[in-house]
Amino acid sequence: MKRVAFADVSDGTSERSLMVVMKPDESRDLSTGACVEISGLLKPSQGAKQDLELEAQKIKTLGAASADYPLQKKYHTPEFLRSIPQFRWKSTRNSSVLRYRSYAHEQLSKYFSENLFTHVQSPVITSSDCEGAGEVFQVRAQDSPDFFGKPAYLTVSSQLHLEVYAAALSRVWNMTPAFRAEESDTNRHLSEFWMVEAELAFTKSLHDVTSVAEAMIRGILPRGLIATDIIASIRDPERQEMVQKRWEMIENSDHEWPRITYTEAVETLQREATHLRKLEWGDDLGSEHEKYLAGNVFRGPVFITDYPVDLKPFYMKRSVGTEKTAACFDLLVPEFGELIGGSLREDDYDVLMANMEKLGMDATDMGWYTDLRKYGSFPHGGYGMGFERWVCYACGVDNIRDAIGFPRWAGSCSC
Ligand code: 4AD
Ligand code: MG
Repeated sequence: MKRVAFADVSDGTSERSLMVVMKPDESRDLSTGACVEISGLLKPSQGAKQDLELEAQKIKTLGAASADYPLQKKYHTPEFLRSIPQFRWKSTRNSSVLRYRSYAHEQLSKYFSENLFTHVQSPVITSSDCEGAGEVFQVRAQDSPDFFGKPAYLTVSSQLHLEVYAAALSRVWNMTPAFRAEESDTNRHLSEFWMVEAELAFTKSLHDVTSVAEAMIRGILPRGLIATDIIASIRDPERQEMVQKRWEMIENSDHEWPRITYTEAVETLQREATHLRKLEWGDDLGSEHEKYLAGNVFRGPVFITDYPVDLKPFYMKRSVGTEKTAACFDLLVPEFGELIGGSLREDDYDVLMANMEKLGMDATDMGWYTDLRKYGSFPHGGYGMGFERWVCYACGVDNIRDAIGFPRWAGSCSC
């Protein structure tokens, strides 16, 4: 303007920026994206949008930005922002997601330590494919393919190692990167993501495990300043409302989330969701079915338990009184479907060996795991939550690629 110039200055510690008022000739060298050091007087603002403004006295440009700086003061699509990984976290919407990730991690530590879980570290390189789904990335030294003397992979889940820890420490948890070579190009799959996993000893039923998962989620809900930050970073008022409703629904429900069996879920879908792919008992639920159950039937998180054994990995214990289903669960949430997967673990040596044989698994190198059942076996169970899926749900982010700093998916590992 003729007599004053304004600059929005932010340091990324919150979604708010500070308005700086200066003389027009002082702003000549400043352009969007420049890094500045400004001192002046902090004053009540005359503008309606902010309480305070900084009347500049001294302005120093630490790093100028040339005019082709790609981030401008306007709405940029998430796709465009993904194409500039070096700058995209400077956008307010994105940076609020990072601040929430940090908050959630802190709250996870708090929740688990208050509930007597020990935080442990498990390996990223492993020789076992925990889920047995064949979605592993192999690891080898460039010049020494046989570096480990046997095939080694990036972990798909820390579960098997957590079971070893749980045998010693009773309750353990960790949050580590997990890697899956899934080619599916969806808004909820990454090749590298973070998994929050918990394993607990002396479980009496699956309900023990689902209760821990449910309480953990309540513990990491955005609250206080971080909640304000997330809401303020969302442009669309309808989306703001949607996100707030999600939180309220979790915060205010004083009863447990519903728990229904897979069999009940299939019956419900057969009855009500005739527009979706038809399911027979034994078919896996697709993401359309998961979203329908959580979004349309229960309108909130729902646990689906006791899936058919044939759909599940070798380590799961059978449901009470039947060989046909496993004592396992998925937690589904609206819009995203599966958020958590978990189960009771088979703790009988002979049954576990028989399960492995049935699946054609080679048990010779698995002594480190099966031994737990031979020496002081203990009833236990646990779960894993895709951290980015939760971040999407809690922050109202549509695509999981925007819930992690540097997303990797098939065909994309840009930096
Ligand atoms: O259901 P999953 O495959 O379960 C396990 O790996 C168990 N071993 C965990 C355990 O019991 N300790 O994966 C757990 C969760 C899923 O529910 C999902 O939220 C997330 O991990 N997940 C992914 N998130 C992002 N991208 C992917 N490709 C994912 N695959 C799984
Ligand atoms: Mg799963």
